[in-house]
Amino acid sequence: MLTLALSKGRIFDEAIPLLARASIVPAEDPERSRKLIIGTSDPRLRIVVVRASDVPTYVQYGAAELGVAGRDVLLEHGGAGLCVPVDLGIGRCRLCVAVPAGFDYAGTVRRGARLRVATKYVQAAREHFAAKGVHVDLIKLYGSMELAPLAGLADAIVDLVSSGGTLRANNLVEVEEIMPISSRLIVNQAALKTRRDELGPLIERLAAAVQP
Ligand code: PRP
Repeated sequence: MLTLALSKGRIFDEAIPLLARASIVPAEDPERSRKLIIGTSDPRLRIVVVRASDVPTYVQYGAAELGVAGRDVLLEHGGAGLCVPVDLGIGRCRLCVAVPAGFDYAGTVRRGARLRVATKYVQAAREHFAAKGVHVDLIKLYGSMELAPLAGLADAIVDLVSSGGTLRANNLVEVEEIMPISSRLIVNQAALKTRRDELGPLIERLAAAVQP
């Protein structure tokens, strides 16, 4: 039996058609059944439902041989013990810097002033601002980043943007794209060696199911 770690919500919803193209159909909808271990149409594969940020951890320690994780989540995890063989092209969005409308971000950066930045993506933000030579104090949050500048907690945020609707609704504007994001297939490095016979064909099936 192989185990695939998946998170509920957008990644799960977008993974369903991709899995279907690889002839894998989950036996239940985790949003409805609330089950955390779900069988699939392939008797050799089951799905475990975990939080998005926990997917790399399950795969790193081999509790799941495979997983689907956003590039954002992988950057924060660091990738220890993982192979990342396939960009699945789902969960597409971008990691951005955003500020309140009217805030002079470019001027602040030019003056070399310190910026307070709230984010869930501390590693990616640290690397981005260090590469630009911008001095920042990073404030780690776990959600609702958009509130931080409005409540006076930070000057700017680093967050995922998809439609831009959440930024607009909170009078924030995107001032910099840090990187495009999509979900990746991740595989436990040790399992890839010891269970190559089972994992190899499955990885190939999933890679073939990716839409350009
Ligand atoms: C993400 C992100 C933004 C929102 C952006 O949150 O943190 O809040 O989506 O999407 P939009 O540009 O289409 O409005 P998500 O809903 O994934 O929940 P999270 O806060 O738990 O990350």
